[in-house]
Amino acid sequence: MSANPLSFLSALGRILKGKPQVPKSLAGNPTLSLLMARRSVRKFQKRRIPDDVFAAILEAARVAPCTVNLQTWTFGVYDQSQWKKTFGSPMPFLGDRAVILFADMARSRAAIPNFPYKPLCELTLATVNVGIAAYAMNIAAEALGVSSVMLSETGKTGFYDARYLKEKLGLPHGVLPITTLVLGYSASTPKTMPPKYPLSELAFTGRYKKPDAKAVKRWYDEMSAGYRATYVTHSFKDKLNQYLGKADEAEAGLQALVLGKKEEFRKKI
Ligand SMILES: Cc1cc2nc3c(=O)[nH]c(=O)nc-3n(C[C@H](O)[C@H](O)[C@H](O)COP(=O)(O)O)c2cc1C
Repeated sequence: MSANPLSFLSALGRILKGKPQVPKSLAGNPTLSLLMARRSVRKFQKRRIPDDVFAAILEAARVAPCTVNLQTWTFGVYDQSQWKKTFGSPMPFLGDRAVILFADMARSRAAIPNFPYKPLCELTLATVNVGIAAYAMNIAAEALGVSSVMLSETGKTGFYDARYLKEKLGLPHGVLPITTLVLGYSASTPKTMPPKYPLSELAFTGRYKKPDAKAVKRWYDEMSAGYRATYVTHSFKDKLNQYLGKADEAEAGLQALVLGKKEEFRKKI
């Protein structure tokens, strides 16, 4: 959290001023405008997403680009009642539909039966593809007026609770939940953009440039100020600690599911 009221106010001021930087000459481009205006939404109306709209959102994932066109993904598709039936609790943020995206290594193994035992390569390959599919859905949804939020907190305890989801959904070995996209019509779209690093901090040419400590502190102060202005009961530090507190369990679950034993992995896929 910002150390004093002045730095809190200054960080808040920077958040309020933060805007996507599109060159003036391109400002009217509709696709760019859509990409820049997208925000994660966590409050939804009680309005149904029509079936054709949802079908188009899923189709955007199906045709998304992926490594060697292996399509190493599987989508778990839920409406509110299917979610409740499966998990025994309401859909997160009371969204209207949710899609759990799985990195599906069973798919690459089915296509390439002699795929060597290289779990980290397979996982990386499948995970990057899933991320692209999730974003394709996110943007297709935006184009159709539907908002969304991606979650790593799916299931009982949250934060890559892969073991819980494996058990709940009967996932075979090698099929890993990566993220859940919760969709609905926005009841409250954030008016400000969360703090983003400037491109000068994120991009380099020539040799790699380490993250600048001042830029990281600036970001941390802005995140803390944003949290303080939004939530009364918890801080950004609390949020980070909440994730850290779950990291051991999440890591153990992923290690068991991804690395497993070589022979077990071979047998089960
Ligand atoms: C893979 C992934 C996992 C995320 N997990 C969560 C989550 O568990 N809970 C949540 O409220 N937001 C989650 N988010 C949303 C981020 O918090 C959000 O994208 C980020 O703060 C930037 O805000 P913006 O999307 O409005 O630009 C996740 C986003 C991604 C891409």
